[in-house]
Amino acid sequence: MFTEIDHVAIAVNDLEAAIDYYRETFGCDVDHREVVEKDGVEEALLRVADSYIQLLTPTRDDSPVAKYLATKGEGIHHVGYRVDDCASALESVKSHGYRVIDEQPRPGSRGTTVAFVHPKTAFGTLIELVQE
Ligand code: CO
Repeated sequence: MFTEIDHVAIAVNDLEAAIDYYRETFGCDVDHREVVEKDGVEEALLRVADSYIQLLTPTRDDSPVAKYLATKGEGIHHVGYRVDDCASALESVKSHGYRVIDEQPRPGSRGTTVAFVHPKTAFGTLIELVQE
């Protein structure tokens, strides 16, 4: 079902500092930036071959990423896998009895359709299903 790793998302406190770090150290350029108001995050996508590093920072205190940073600190937040059909991938998770965060696919950044799978029954990893 997975066709590619779409992105590895990293939660950071200072988005500009993190962008500078990846640019200066590894020569990564920002391909896309977006504020996702509904999720309370600002993201910067840095292209690596056909995938991205997604730097994420909260835009408000009640953002899930703000809570993540407060309890766990900076670091890998989730892995986004590309799928051809987000709804059927999500249905597969549910039909196997595993927990999801999104009951239905919803709009993500870049015009994608996404759904999050709960880390509790996914061996500790927050998984995002990404359909382009
Ligand atoms: Co993501």
